[in-house]
Amino acid sequence: MTDKLASVAEYENVFKGRVHEIAWLYYVSGSDEEITLEQNRNAFKRLRLRPRVLQDVSSIDVSASLLGQRVDIPICIAPTAWQGLAHPDAEVATAKAAEKVGTCMILSLHANKSLEEVREKTPKGLKWLNLYLFPNRTVTLDLVRRTENANYNGLVVTIDNPSLGNLIKFHHRKGISIYSRRVNDYHGNGHLEKYLKGYDMGPLRQNGRPVDISIRDRAATWQYFDWLRSQTDLPIIAKGVLTAEDAILAVNNGANAVIVSNHGGRGLDSVPASIEALPEVVRAIGDRVEVYIDGGIRNGIDVFKALALGAKAVFVGRPILYGLAHSGEDGAKQILEILKSELIRTMRFAGCRSLSDIVPSFVVHESHYAKL
Ligand SMILES: Cc1cc2nc3c(=O)[nH]c(=O)nc-3n(C[C@H](O)[C@H](O)[C@H](O)COP(=O)(O)O)c2cc1C
Repeated sequence: MTDKLASVAEYENVFKGRVHEIAWLYYVSGSDEEITLEQNRNAFKRLRLRPRVLQDVSSIDVSASLLGQRVDIPICIAPTAWQGLAHPDAEVATAKAAEKVGTCMILSLHANKSLEEVREKTPKGLKWLNLYLFPNRTVTLDLVRRTENANYNGLVVTIDNPSLGNLIKFHHRKGISIYSRRVNDYHGNGHLEKYLKGYDMGPLRQNGRPVDISIRDRAATWQYFDWLRSQTDLPIIAKGVLTAEDAILAVNNGANAVIVSNHGGRGLDSVPASIEALPEVVRAIGDRVEVYIDGGIRNGIDVFKALALGAKAVFVGRPILYGLAHSGEDGAKQILEILKSELIRTMRFAGCRSLSDIVPSFVVHESHYAKL
Protein backbone atom coordinates (compact mmCIF):
# COMPACT_ATOMS: atom_id res chain seq x y z
CA MET A 1 0.00 0.00 0.00
CA THR A 2 1.55 3.31 -1.07
CA ASP A 3 1.67 6.13 1.45
CA LYS A 4 -1.07 8.69 1.06
CA LEU A 5 -0.06 12.30 0.63
CA ALA A 6 -1.95 15.22 2.14
CA SER A 7 -2.71 17.60 -0.73
CA VAL A 8 -2.85 17.88 -4.51
CA ALA A 9 0.31 20.01 -4.29
CA GLU A 10 2.15 17.16 -2.58
CA TYR A 11 1.08 14.75 -5.34
CA GLU A 12 2.19 17.28 -7.92
CA ASN A 13 5.60 17.57 -6.26
CA VAL A 14 6.35 13.88 -6.67
CA PHE A 15 4.72 13.55 -10.11
CA LYS A 16 7.85 14.16 -12.15
CA GLY A 17 9.60 11.18 -10.61
CA ARG A 18 6.67 8.87 -11.35
CA VAL A 19 6.37 9.15 -15.14
CA HIS A 20 8.65 9.15 -18.14
CA GLU A 21 10.10 12.58 -18.87
CA ILE A 22 8.19 12.75 -22.18
CA ALA A 23 4.93 11.94 -20.45
CA TRP A 24 5.67 14.54 -17.80
CA LEU A 25 6.25 17.18 -20.47
CA TYR A 26 3.04 16.19 -22.22
CA TYR A 27 0.98 16.41 -19.05
CA VAL A 28 2.30 19.62 -17.54
CA SER A 29 2.78 21.73 -20.66
CA GLY A 30 0.65 24.68 -21.63
CA SER A 31 0.68 26.38 -25.02
CA ASP A 32 3.01 29.13 -26.21
CA GLU A 33 4.18 31.32 -23.29
CA GLU A 34 1.90 29.47 -20.88
CA ILE A 35 0.26 32.73 -19.81
CA THR A 36 -3.18 31.15 -19.54
CA LEU A 37 -1.80 28.06 -17.82
CA GLU A 38 -0.24 30.26 -15.15
CA GLN A 39 -3.27 32.51 -14.81
CA ASN A 40 -5.57 29.53 -14.28
CA ARG A 41 -3.86 29.23 -10.89
CA ASN A 42 -3.12 32.86 -10.17
CA ALA A 43 -6.66 34.03 -10.81
CA PHE A 44 -7.92 31.78 -8.01
CA LYS A 45 -5.32 33.28 -5.68
CA ARG A 46 -6.59 36.79 -6.45
CA LEU A 47 -10.03 35.95 -5.03
CA ARG A 48 -10.79 36.50 -1.34
CA LEU A 49 -13.47 34.82 0.76
CA ARG A 50 -16.02 36.66 2.92
CA PRO A 51 -17.01 33.98 5.45
CA ARG A 52 -20.06 34.03 7.75
CA VAL A 53 -19.80 32.70 11.28
CA LEU A 54 -22.19 31.02 13.75
CA GLN A 55 -24.32 29.40 11.08
CA ASP A 56 -24.80 25.88 12.55
CA VAL A 57 -22.37 23.91 10.46
CA SER A 58 -22.79 20.72 12.47
CA SER A 59 -23.66 18.75 9.34
CA ILE A 60 -22.61 19.48 5.78
CA ASP A 61 -24.03 18.05 2.57
CA VAL A 62 -21.90 18.25 -0.58
CA SER A 63 -24.10 16.16 -2.86
CA ALA A 64 -25.13 17.72 -6.16
CA SER A 65 -27.13 16.87 -9.24
CA LEU A 66 -25.70 17.03 -12.75
CA LEU A 67 -28.32 17.09 -15.49
CA GLY A 68 -30.72 15.35 -13.13
CA GLN A 69 -28.25 12.68 -11.95
CA ARG A 70 -27.05 12.67 -8.37
CA VAL A 71 -23.36 12.87 -7.56
CA ASP A 72 -21.91 12.67 -4.04
CA ILE A 73 -19.51 15.56 -4.65
CA PRO A 74 -19.51 18.48 -7.14
CA ILE A 75 -15.92 17.61 -8.08
CA CYS A 76 -15.65 15.58 -11.28
CA ILE A 77 -12.98 14.30 -13.63
CA ALA A 78 -12.10 16.24 -16.80
CA PRO A 79 -11.06 14.29 -19.91
CA THR A 80 -7.31 13.90 -20.23
CA ALA A 81 -5.70 11.90 -23.00
CA TRP A 82 -3.38 8.91 -22.84
CA GLN A 83 -3.72 8.00 -19.18
CA GLY A 84 -1.67 4.88 -19.95
CA LEU A 85 1.35 7.17 -19.76
CA ALA A 86 0.61 7.62 -16.06
CA HIS A 87 -0.40 4.09 -15.07
CA PRO A 88 -0.99 0.78 -16.88
CA ASP A 89 -4.58 0.60 -15.63
CA ALA A 90 -5.13 3.98 -17.28
CA GLU A 91 -8.76 5.13 -17.66
CA VAL A 92 -10.15 2.02 -15.97
CA ALA A 93 -8.37 3.03 -12.74
CA THR A 94 -9.63 6.59 -13.02
CA ALA A 95 -13.18 5.45 -13.71
CA LYS A 96 -13.11 3.12 -10.70
CA ALA A 97 -11.94 5.98 -8.50
CA ALA A 98 -14.80 8.16 -9.77
CA GLU A 99 -17.32 5.38 -9.26
CA LYS A 100 -16.17 4.71 -5.69
CA VAL A 101 -16.25 8.36 -4.71
CA GLY A 102 -19.60 8.79 -6.44
CA THR A 103 -18.80 11.34 -9.06
CA CYS A 104 -18.85 11.91 -12.82
CA MET A 105 -15.97 11.10 -15.14
CA ILE A 106 -15.52 12.34 -18.68
CA LEU A 107 -13.60 9.77 -20.71
CA SER A 108 -11.22 11.33 -23.23
CA LEU A 109 -11.60 10.14 -26.77
CA HIS A 110 -7.82 9.82 -26.81
CA ALA A 111 -8.02 7.09 -24.19
CA ASN A 112 -5.84 4.04 -23.80
CA LYS A 113 -8.85 1.90 -22.90
CA SER A 114 -11.91 1.56 -25.07
CA LEU A 115 -15.09 3.28 -24.00
CA GLU A 116 -16.80 -0.13 -23.79
CA GLU A 117 -14.16 -1.58 -21.46
CA VAL A 118 -14.30 1.44 -19.17
CA ARG A 119 -18.09 1.15 -18.92
CA GLU A 120 -18.00 -2.60 -18.44
CA LYS A 121 -15.59 -2.26 -15.51
CA THR A 122 -17.53 0.58 -13.90
CA PRO A 123 -21.19 -0.15 -14.60
CA LYS A 124 -22.59 2.19 -11.96
CA GLY A 125 -20.68 5.42 -12.38
CA LEU A 126 -21.99 8.56 -14.06
CA LYS A 127 -19.96 8.77 -17.25
CA TRP A 128 -19.79 11.09 -20.22
CA LEU A 129 -17.78 10.56 -23.40
CA ASN A 130 -15.60 13.32 -24.79
CA LEU A 131 -16.18 13.85 -28.50
CA TYR A 132 -14.63 16.01 -31.18
CA LEU A 133 -16.27 17.08 -34.41
CA PHE A 134 -14.62 15.05 -37.15
CA PRO A 135 -14.50 15.97 -40.85
CA ASN A 136 -16.28 12.73 -41.68
CA ARG A 137 -19.64 12.86 -39.94
CA THR A 138 -20.12 9.11 -40.07
CA VAL A 139 -17.08 8.79 -37.80
CA THR A 140 -18.71 11.19 -35.35
CA LEU A 141 -22.00 9.34 -35.64
CA ASP A 142 -20.43 5.90 -35.11
CA LEU A 143 -18.93 7.17 -31.89
CA VAL A 144 -22.28 8.56 -30.80
CA ARG A 145 -23.88 5.15 -31.34
CA ARG A 146 -21.09 3.37 -29.44
CA THR A 147 -21.56 5.84 -26.60
CA GLU A 148 -25.30 5.16 -26.52
CA ASN A 149 -24.84 1.39 -26.73
CA ALA A 150 -22.35 1.42 -23.86
CA ASN A 151 -24.85 3.30 -21.67
CA TYR A 152 -22.90 6.46 -21.20
CA ASN A 153 -24.91 9.33 -19.73
CA GLY A 154 -23.82 12.18 -21.94
CA LEU A 155 -21.57 13.52 -24.69
CA VAL A 156 -19.03 16.23 -24.01
CA VAL A 157 -18.19 17.98 -27.26
CA THR A 158 -14.87 19.79 -27.09
CA ILE A 159 -15.27 22.89 -29.23
CA ASP A 160 -12.18 24.92 -28.35
CA ASN A 161 -9.56 22.84 -30.14
CA PRO A 162 -9.77 23.23 -33.95
CA SER A 163 -6.17 22.05 -33.97
CA LEU A 164 -3.62 21.07 -31.39
CA GLY A 165 -2.29 23.80 -29.15
CA ASN A 166 1.31 24.92 -29.51
CA LEU A 167 2.76 22.98 -26.57
CA ILE A 168 6.26 24.28 -27.16
CA LYS A 169 8.03 22.41 -24.37
CA PHE A 170 6.50 19.16 -25.55
CA HIS A 171 5.99 19.26 -29.30
CA HIS A 172 9.26 20.88 -30.12
CA ARG A 173 11.36 18.27 -28.46
CA LYS A 174 13.25 16.68 -31.32
CA GLY A 175 11.53 13.64 -32.72
CA ILE A 176 8.67 13.64 -30.25
CA SER A 177 5.04 13.75 -31.23
CA ILE A 178 2.31 12.11 -29.24
CA TYR A 179 -0.08 12.73 -32.09
CA SER A 180 1.52 10.67 -34.81
CA ARG A 181 -0.14 10.56 -38.22
CA ARG A 182 -2.38 7.64 -37.46
CA VAL A 183 -3.73 6.58 -34.13
CA ASN A 184 -3.11 2.93 -34.82
CA ASP A 185 0.55 3.71 -35.30
CA TYR A 186 0.84 3.82 -31.55
CA HIS A 187 0.17 0.16 -31.35
CA GLY A 188 3.01 -1.01 -33.49
CA ASN A 189 5.40 1.55 -34.83
CA GLY A 190 4.33 4.93 -33.47
CA HIS A 191 6.79 7.45 -32.10
CA LEU A 192 5.71 6.88 -28.55
CA GLU A 193 5.68 3.13 -28.66
CA LYS A 194 9.00 2.88 -26.94
CA TYR A 195 7.67 4.87 -23.99
CA LEU A 196 4.57 2.78 -23.70
CA LYS A 197 5.86 -0.73 -23.44
CA GLY A 198 3.27 -3.00 -21.95
CA TYR A 199 0.41 -0.53 -22.25
CA ASP A 200 -2.66 -1.27 -24.31
CA MET A 201 -3.23 1.74 -26.52
CA GLY A 202 -6.50 0.38 -27.91
CA PRO A 203 -6.45 1.95 -31.41
CA LEU A 204 -9.76 3.38 -32.57
CA ARG A 205 -11.24 1.72 -35.60
CA GLN A 206 -14.25 2.32 -37.82
CA ASN A 207 -15.40 -0.55 -40.04
CA GLY A 208 -12.13 -2.32 -39.38
CA ARG A 209 -10.05 0.64 -40.52
CA PRO A 210 -8.01 2.93 -38.26
CA VAL A 211 -9.34 6.43 -37.80
CA ASP A 212 -7.11 9.43 -37.34
CA ILE A 213 -8.85 11.20 -34.49
CA SER A 214 -6.23 13.88 -34.18
CA ILE A 215 -7.80 15.55 -37.23
CA ARG A 216 -10.78 17.77 -36.40
CA ASP A 217 -13.19 19.47 -38.76
CA ARG A 218 -11.77 22.96 -39.03
CA ALA A 219 -14.74 23.96 -41.17
CA ALA A 220 -17.12 23.08 -38.33
CA THR A 221 -19.68 25.70 -37.30
CA TRP A 222 -22.65 25.73 -34.93
CA GLN A 223 -24.57 24.06 -37.75
CA TYR A 224 -22.48 20.91 -37.14
CA PHE A 225 -23.26 21.12 -33.42
CA ASP A 226 -26.94 21.54 -34.18
CA TRP A 227 -26.82 18.52 -36.52
CA LEU A 228 -25.24 16.45 -33.74
CA ARG A 229 -28.07 17.53 -31.44
CA SER A 230 -30.57 16.12 -33.93
CA GLN A 231 -28.79 12.73 -33.99
CA THR A 232 -29.05 11.68 -30.34
CA ASP A 233 -31.16 11.97 -27.23
CA LEU A 234 -28.08 11.93 -24.99
CA PRO A 235 -27.42 15.19 -23.16
CA ILE A 236 -24.76 17.25 -24.94
CA ILE A 237 -22.31 19.31 -22.92
CA ALA A 238 -20.29 21.97 -24.79
CA LYS A 239 -16.72 22.09 -23.45
CA GLY A 240 -14.50 25.08 -24.06
CA VAL A 241 -16.69 28.17 -23.80
CA LEU A 242 -15.14 31.44 -22.56
CA THR A 243 -17.54 34.16 -23.74
CA ALA A 244 -21.18 35.10 -23.25
CA GLU A 245 -21.61 35.13 -27.04
CA ASP A 246 -20.54 31.51 -27.49
CA ALA A 247 -22.40 30.42 -24.38
CA ILE A 248 -25.65 31.73 -25.85
CA LEU A 249 -24.94 30.08 -29.21
CA ALA A 250 -24.19 26.77 -27.48
CA VAL A 251 -27.53 26.81 -25.68
CA ASN A 252 -29.44 28.01 -28.77
CA ASN A 253 -27.94 25.08 -30.69
CA GLY A 254 -29.03 22.52 -28.17
CA ALA A 255 -26.30 22.24 -25.52
CA ASN A 256 -27.76 20.93 -22.26
CA ALA A 257 -24.83 22.31 -20.27
CA VAL A 258 -21.61 24.21 -20.82
CA ILE A 259 -18.10 23.77 -19.41
CA VAL A 260 -16.20 27.03 -19.07
CA SER A 261 -12.69 25.92 -19.99
CA ASN A 262 -9.53 26.99 -21.77
CA HIS A 263 -8.37 23.39 -22.15
CA GLY A 264 -6.08 23.68 -19.15
CA GLY A 265 -4.07 26.42 -20.90
CA ARG A 266 -3.34 24.10 -23.81
CA GLY A 267 -5.28 25.79 -26.59
CA LEU A 268 -5.10 29.49 -27.42
CA ASP A 269 -2.70 31.25 -25.06
CA SER A 270 -3.63 34.62 -23.49
CA VAL A 271 -7.31 33.80 -23.13
CA PRO A 272 -8.65 34.47 -19.62
CA ALA A 273 -8.33 32.09 -16.73
CA SER A 274 -11.43 29.91 -16.56
CA ILE A 275 -12.45 31.37 -13.21
CA GLU A 276 -12.23 34.88 -14.73
CA ALA A 277 -14.53 33.90 -17.60
CA LEU A 278 -17.05 32.06 -15.41
CA PRO A 279 -19.15 35.03 -14.19
CA GLU A 280 -19.73 36.30 -17.75
CA VAL A 281 -20.96 32.89 -18.89
CA VAL A 282 -23.14 32.38 -15.82
CA ARG A 283 -24.75 35.79 -16.36
CA ALA A 284 -25.47 34.92 -20.01
CA ILE A 285 -26.93 31.40 -19.66
CA GLY A 286 -26.93 30.37 -15.99
CA ASP A 287 -30.72 30.62 -15.76
CA ARG A 288 -31.16 28.29 -18.77
CA VAL A 289 -28.59 25.49 -18.37
CA GLU A 290 -26.04 24.21 -15.90
CA VAL A 291 -22.60 25.78 -16.12
CA TYR A 292 -19.48 23.87 -15.05
CA ILE A 293 -15.83 24.88 -15.00
CA ASP A 294 -12.36 23.37 -15.28
CA GLY A 295 -8.86 24.82 -15.18
CA GLY A 296 -6.47 25.41 -12.30
CA ILE A 297 -8.54 23.86 -9.53
CA ARG A 298 -6.06 22.44 -7.02
CA ASN A 299 -7.79 22.54 -3.62
CA GLY A 300 -11.16 22.68 -1.92
CA ILE A 301 -11.02 26.46 -1.53
CA ASP A 302 -10.75 26.78 -5.33
CA VAL A 303 -13.80 24.52 -5.62
CA PHE A 304 -15.71 26.72 -3.19
CA LYS A 305 -14.80 29.89 -5.14
CA ALA A 306 -15.97 28.35 -8.42
CA LEU A 307 -19.27 27.22 -6.91
CA ALA A 308 -19.80 30.66 -5.38
CA LEU A 309 -19.31 32.29 -8.78
CA GLY A 310 -22.05 30.12 -10.27
CA ALA A 311 -20.55 26.79 -11.34
CA LYS A 312 -22.81 23.84 -10.64
CA ALA A 313 -19.76 21.55 -10.48
CA VAL A 314 -16.04 21.64 -11.18
CA PHE A 315 -13.84 19.31 -13.21
CA VAL A 316 -10.19 18.58 -12.55
CA GLY A 317 -7.65 17.46 -15.14
CA ARG A 318 -3.99 17.25 -14.10
CA PRO A 319 -4.55 16.53 -10.38
CA ILE A 320 -6.14 13.20 -11.31
CA LEU A 321 -3.07 12.35 -13.41
CA TYR A 322 -0.82 13.12 -10.42
CA GLY A 323 -2.82 10.69 -8.28
CA LEU A 324 -3.00 8.07 -11.02
CA ALA A 325 0.77 8.17 -11.58
CA HIS A 326 1.35 7.91 -7.83
CA SER A 327 -0.76 4.85 -7.09
CA GLY A 328 -3.32 4.09 -9.80
CA GLU A 329 -6.94 3.88 -8.73
CA ASP A 330 -6.06 4.54 -5.06
CA GLY A 331 -4.15 7.69 -5.96
CA ALA A 332 -6.89 9.07 -8.21
CA LYS A 333 -9.43 8.33 -5.48
CA GLN A 334 -7.27 10.01 -2.88
CA ILE A 335 -7.15 13.19 -4.99
CA LEU A 336 -10.96 13.30 -5.10
CA GLU A 337 -11.19 12.62 -1.38
CA ILE A 338 -8.70 15.34 -0.54
CA LEU A 339 -10.67 17.86 -2.60
CA LYS A 340 -13.90 16.68 -0.98
CA SER A 341 -12.63 17.05 2.58
CA GLU A 342 -11.09 20.44 1.78
CA LEU A 343 -14.40 21.61 0.34
CA ILE A 344 -16.26 20.44 3.45
CA ARG A 345 -13.76 22.23 5.68
CA THR A 346 -14.07 25.42 3.64
CA MET A 347 -17.87 25.27 3.86
CA ARG A 348 -17.70 24.78 7.62
CA PHE A 349 -15.44 27.80 8.03
CA ALA A 350 -17.49 29.90 5.62
CA GLY A 351 -20.82 29.00 7.25
CA CYS A 352 -22.41 26.91 4.45
CA ARG A 353 -24.34 23.70 5.10
CA SER A 354 -25.13 22.73 1.51
CA LEU A 355 -23.98 23.72 -1.96
CA SER A 356 -27.01 25.97 -2.42
CA ASP A 357 -25.73 28.10 0.49
CA ILE A 358 -22.57 28.95 -1.51
CA VAL A 359 -23.56 32.24 -3.17
CA PRO A 360 -21.59 35.00 -4.98
CA SER A 361 -21.32 37.27 -1.91
CA PHE A 362 -18.77 34.84 -0.41
CA VAL A 363 -16.17 35.83 -3.01
CA VAL A 364 -14.61 39.14 -3.96
CA HIS A 365 -11.64 40.09 -6.11
CA GLU A 366 -8.62 41.14 -4.03
CA SER A 367 -8.94 44.67 -5.42
CA HIS A 368 -12.07 45.02 -3.27
CA TYR A 369 -9.81 45.40 -0.24
CA ALA A 370 -7.33 47.68 -1.99
CA LYS A 371 -9.90 50.46 -1.69
CA LEU A 372 -9.86 50.42 2.11
C1 LIG B 1 -2.54 15.93 -20.53
C2 LIG B 1 -3.86 16.54 -20.87
C3 LIG B 1 -4.66 15.94 -21.84
C4 LIG B 1 -5.90 16.48 -22.15
N1 LIG B 1 -6.69 15.83 -23.07
C5 LIG B 1 -7.92 16.34 -23.34
C6 LIG B 1 -8.80 15.66 -24.22
O1 LIG B 1 -8.48 14.58 -24.74
N2 LIG B 1 -10.00 16.21 -24.48
C7 LIG B 1 -10.40 17.40 -23.90
O2 LIG B 1 -11.49 17.88 -24.16
N3 LIG B 1 -9.59 18.05 -23.04
C8 LIG B 1 -8.39 17.55 -22.73
N4 LIG B 1 -7.59 18.19 -21.83
C9 LIG B 1 -8.10 19.38 -21.12
C10 LIG B 1 -8.82 18.95 -19.82
O3 LIG B 1 -10.03 18.30 -20.10
C11 LIG B 1 -9.17 20.16 -18.94
O4 LIG B 1 -9.83 21.13 -19.71
C12 LIG B 1 -7.95 20.77 -18.25
O5 LIG B 1 -6.96 19.81 -17.99
C13 LIG B 1 -8.39 21.42 -16.95
O6 LIG B 1 -7.33 22.07 -16.35
P1 LIG B 1 -6.44 21.47 -15.13
O7 LIG B 1 -5.54 20.46 -15.73
O8 LIG B 1 -5.75 22.69 -14.63
O9 LIG B 1 -7.41 20.89 -14.12
C14 LIG B 1 -6.34 17.66 -21.50
C15 LIG B 1 -5.53 18.25 -20.51
C16 LIG B 1 -4.31 17.70 -20.18
C17 LIG B 1 -3.49 18.34 -19.11
